[in-house]
Amino acid sequence: MFKINENYLKLPGSYLFSTIGKKVAAYTEAHPDKTIIRLGIGDVTQPLAPAIIDSMHKAVDEMGVKETFRGYAPDLGYEFLRTAIADNDYKSRGADIAADEIFVSDGAKCDSGNIQEIFSIDNKIAVCDPVYPVYVDTNVMSGRTGTYDEKTEMWSDVIYMPCTADNHFAPDFPKETPDLIYLCFPNNPTGSTIRKDQLQGWVDYANKNGSVIIYDAAYEAYIAEEDVAHTIYECEGARSCAIELKSFSKNAGFTGVRLGYAVVPKDLKCGEVSLHALWARRHGTKYNGAPYIIQRAGEAVYSELGKEQLKKQVAYYMNNAKVIKEGLQSAGYTVSGGVNAPYIWLKTPDRMTSWEFFDYLLETANVVGTPGSGFGPSGEGYFRLTAFGSYENTIAAVERIKAL
Ligand code: MLT
Repeated sequence: MFKINENYLKLPGSYLFSTIGKKVAAYTEAHPDKTIIRLGIGDVTQPLAPAIIDSMHKAVDEMGVKETFRGYAPDLGYEFLRTAIADNDYKSRGADIAADEIFVSDGAKCDSGNIQEIFSIDNKIAVCDPVYPVYVDTNVMSGRTGTYDEKTEMWSDVIYMPCTADNHFAPDFPKETPDLIYLCFPNNPTGSTIRKDQLQGWVDYANKNGSVIIYDAAYEAYIAEEDVAHTIYECEGARSCAIELKSFSKNAGFTGVRLGYAVVPKDLKCGEVSLHALWARRHGTKYNGAPYIIQRAGEAVYSELGKEQLKKQVAYYMNNAKVIKEGLQSAGYTVSGGVNAPYIWLKTPDRMTSWEFFDYLLETANVVGTPGSGFGPSGEGYFRLTAFGSYENTIAAVERIKAL
């Protein structure tokens, strides 16, 4: 008789955004007359930039002609895209990353879930609390997290690094030394970030302790302040301790297109074993590459026209962030984030729990957000709103919340 991977049975509830989706669907069915504004999941709403569409059209046409048709993509991604990434996201920032250290994928969510596979099951992970749930859940699935305590909502073998108002939502070094450290800056869900010198501290910490940092930089395009690093490889020594994950979802609106990449520097080794070689083996065996058309779309992100158009798109969302932040502040809410990230993190009013506030907002304002506790126990009493809605919906949502 076959057996299942019992680790899956340890997962409490469903994936956060699936739970929210179900709740909202049930409410909508019961109240078909209500107009719901969705500022929950960080999904973009602006159409793809014209430069990207043009590039995709051209690539589609190429696929219809014998001479330019493409079959399987190279394992690790097309050279044209990897070179564009290396030049624009790294070399231009003084970060020493070569094209062959970049692994093109169908998105950072998959990479952030899959990357743990190349590490021993005995490794202990550290995560920020609150945290993007994928990091923890995928380690649960592989059996690395021990047992779950329903009371504390914590796993026995996970090191939690609380990010609260007291530490300005920036994690302190944990007391127990982790093997793998998941960091995401600018941060999802709190919308906060850390300065480059603080990030350098984490790189030094990892090198000193023999830890690997898995650095999720999905929101890098939203950095507005000077002293924030755009990539962890701006920090000295990061090549020997960090893997960086990037997404095209938030900077270029590819949530439905799907494209991302992982950087695994060749200096990152466990003894003599190169993590680059392990990830290349994994990629080659389990993955046939992002589609040619999509990789051409990714290349257009780095064209002069693409950059210009996407700068405007990011500014559009950041204006929404400002509208939400200032609107809620004027209504007396305690709010953070929204300066270097498209997320606003607010304290729930009247000591409501995160889920109580979720229900209250859905029922009275017909606005959907994300309960902070869904990201971890230190998120309790907080709530996340995304700036990825349309401007009109953002204004309307803020007006509705202010009128409560
Ligand atoms: C979020 O809302 O946290 C993100 O959209 C989830 C994701 O990017 O997968």
